[in-house]
Amino acid sequence: MTNWPEIYQYAQQAIKEAGQRVRNALNNELKIETKSNPNDLVTNIDKETELFFIEKIRKDFSTHSILGEEGQGDELQSLEGIVWIIDPIDGTVNFVHQNRNFAISIGILENGKGKIGLVYDVISDELYHAASGQGAYMNDTPLDPLKPVSVEETILGINATWITENRRIDPEVLAPLVKRVRGTRSYGSAALELAYVAAGRMDAYVTMRLSPWDFAGGCILLDEVGGIYTTVDGEALNFLSTNSVLAGNPAVHRTILEEYLAEKK
Ligand code: IPD
Ligand code: CA
Ligand code: CA
Repeated sequence: MTNWPEIYQYAQQAIKEAGQRVRNALNNELKIETKSNPNDLVTNIDKETELFFIEKIRKDFSTHSILGEEGQGDELQSLEGIVWIIDPIDGTVNFVHQNRNFAISIGILENGKGKIGLVYDVISDELYHAASGQGAYMNDTPLDPLKPVSVEETILGINATWITENRRIDPEVLAPLVKRVRGTRSYGSAALELAYVAAGRMDAYVTMRLSPWDFAGGCILLDEVGGIYTTVDGEALNFLSTNSVLAGNPAVHRTILEEYLAEKK
């Protein structure tokens, strides 16, 4: 029998310890490299933090698999067994440019089902955490179940990219939604943005391309507060590949899907 309370405790301690290491590392000069394009940054701290988790989990839970953004974990073809999906630094551009507004994100799944979600805002020392069936918390404060809000009252997380010329969506699809909502926000860390939806600080979040490590932790938080997440086509997210993501309060999620995205070209 898997001891989930033990894994939950363990994961919280590990993410806090990793966060302390990241805070300490900010006193030293970062080694910054680019990946797929000049704006896709990675630092020595992203890689070292990922390795910290991998070495720890392999030592203490040798049967668990690890999917990490920096590729030092396992190459997974399936979500069978217990899988840790880890983004060691989500919001690396913020990490490099602002030294804040980034998070460590962990989702732990069992046979594809979300069991534990953690998103740690390292600088604010805010740990959003949830275990399946036990509610979600920010540090020790329980997060309330999401209450219905109208689109007019919605704070929408969206990057301006998606309402300008881009390769993934006609800018005309989401521009009217941006006009209709109360306000838009873009924080530059998908994991934090999903945690903010779970915490009711935003009501919805939409983006056209995320990887499993960007959304795994946040989605498990959303499960515990009654949040909904799908692709922009309304399909279930695939935790082994890239996806578009529409997450939010159920009422707002449905309206965005039906009134805006169903017609997308
Ligand atoms: C990125 C952030 C960003 C999102 C990008 C991600 P990274 O993650 O979550 O908000 O828009 O798509 O790649 O590279 O900083 O871990
Ligand atoms: Ca990320
Ligand atoms: Ca990352």
